[in-house]
Amino acid sequence: MRVDVVSIFPEYFAPLDLSLIGRARANGVLQLAVHDLRTWTHDVHRTVDDTPYGGGPGMVMRPEPWGAALDALAPAEAPPPRLLVPSPAGVPFTQAMAYELAAESHLLFACGRYEGIDQRVLEHAATRMPVTEVSLGDYVLFGGEVAVLVMVEAVTRLLPGVLGNAGSLDEESHAHGLLEAPIYTKPPSWRGHDVPEVLRSGDHGKIARWRREEGLLRTAARRPDLLAALPADRLDKRDIAA
Ligand code: ADE
Repeated sequence: MRVDVVSIFPEYFAPLDLSLIGRARANGVLQLAVHDLRTWTHDVHRTVDDTPYGGGPGMVMRPEPWGAALDALAPAEAPPPRLLVPSPAGVPFTQAMAYELAAESHLLFACGRYEGIDQRVLEHAATRMPVTEVSLGDYVLFGGEVAVLVMVEAVTRLLPGVLGNAGSLDEESHAHGLLEAPIYTKPPSWRGHDVPEVLRSGDHGKIARWRREEGLLRTAARRPDLLAALPADRLDKRDIAA
């Protein structure tokens, strides 16, 4: 997969050299390039922002550098990438969207700063490529950089060959619309707290049932919204009894 990121703070992306993402880049599963938006400015101050029309606080990112950046990274003659613009006003980023993005061949992330990017950049881009404004959650960050780190990590770990044990994708939280059950390792007793007996029973049917029930209980307590959104056919009779 090819991923391009445009930002006025390319240094934010240094962690993408580390660990499993660094390895995915080294072995070519992920071709990631970070670009400085100011490359596409032409004045001595390399200006990227200006005051908002209509008044109000803060500054807005000017359309010209963004237009030139998108022209360069998504040229009309090449297959268009999917453009993702992090914004607190975007649609929620979810595990389902991470799977959707992992199936794309080219993602282009545009990191806004200040109050955001002039909306015409997105309108114009949408005439040439799919554009999605995406929010990490109901809070406001300084800019899109941290959101892009999160999304690149969530997507990269779904690419074939990145995770050592792909089976863990099937068991983790959100894999089936539920939160994952608690997990334990050795020793069996630690500071007076014991590993649940069932996990040491060796009875894999009972263990799977216990995990399912703990996942349901956790989801009901912490994320009732997820439970409510679960299609009825994803719950069986034993789930409802639990
Ligand atoms: N930029 C600022 N806040 C954000 C958020 N919550 N999600 C994505 N991008 C953002």
